[in-house]
Amino acid sequence: MISVGGANPGFARGRRLRSTPALRRLTAQTRLAPADFVLPVFVKQGIDEPVAISSMPGVVQHTLDSLRKAAHEAADAGIGGLMLFGIPGEKDAVGSQADAADGIVNVALRQLRSDLGDELVLMADLCLCEYTDHGHCGVVTPAGVVDNDPTLDRYAAVAVAQAQAGAHVIAPSGMMDGQVAAIRAALDGAAYTETPVLAYAAKYASGFYGPFREAAEGAPQFGDRSTYQMDPPNADEALREVAQDLAEGADAVMVKPALPYLDIITRVADAVHVPVSAYQVSGEYAMVEAAAANGWVDRERAILETLTAIRRAGAGTVLTYWAVEAARLLRR
Ligand code: PBG
Repeated sequence: MISVGGANPGFARGRRLRSTPALRRLTAQTRLAPADFVLPVFVKQGIDEPVAISSMPGVVQHTLDSLRKAAHEAADAGIGGLMLFGIPGEKDAVGSQADAADGIVNVALRQLRSDLGDELVLMADLCLCEYTDHGHCGVVTPAGVVDNDPTLDRYAAVAVAQAQAGAHVIAPSGMMDGQVAAIRAALDGAAYTETPVLAYAAKYASGFYGPFREAAEGAPQFGDRSTYQMDPPNADEALREVAQDLAEGADAVMVKPALPYLDIITRVADAVHVPVSAYQVSGEYAMVEAAAANGWVDRERAILETLTAIRRAGAGTVLTYWAVEAARLLRR
């Protein structure tokens, strides 16, 4: 039997390097920095004041003005970027407001780009679910099935509108087959050859999107998203989705949600040589906030631990509703 006692010279003891905060800091294998974080934000048409989202304490639907203020704060906190979601005043079957030049998200992009220039990376989430009256991520057939190829034409138009409005990065999240190729071709055709595509490549049909549907008002009115988003039991399929998106021209890929899919983050990060992001989604946020509100977990500690775990798994960038707060915590 090997003795781990102090009388055994030369035996590496785990506790030696843990004995002071400075030693732990020196030997930490994973570090968090504000620049790793992207803040998802919601901007809603036709409101005068920010609207609180009850299932996401601390997160709001912004007015154009409150979004500008939040964006300046985000820049001051030194985070990497914003991911924009728009909630239009009117929805229709094809999500017309997603690519309307005066649609809320495009107006917001234009303002933020003119306010901030290139100080923050402005990412535009590209999907139709916030813009369609049926709440699905694409156009639907009369039988109620999400119709892949006609949806690609819509995504192409939305990508160009978002690039035109000032988005630095286009981030398609609808999980249609061929979406990256369609968007890349449209961007190139409109001379946005330098605008990168961040593909939500491995996006699972997740119960953890619940609070987001309140925030973005995009719950499906019938059915669910399991015919286009990935099935939680599958891992190899994530690698196939990632490979397909890269073959279609994606510049970076995302795994979503984050904490329940750390194994997927690791496998993707090991498999590719492009930047890998992970999206810590609304339900992940809500779980910690709810537990903390009950006094069941130490809130700040839990926040930083989840972010560390996601980075340790292999994500370079983390999309998180705590982006600005976490950046401030790290500065203390
Ligand atoms: C839209 C979209 C969703 C999220 C990001 N983009 C919702 C969904 O797919 O149902 C979820 C983000 C979150 O829960 O924080 N396609």
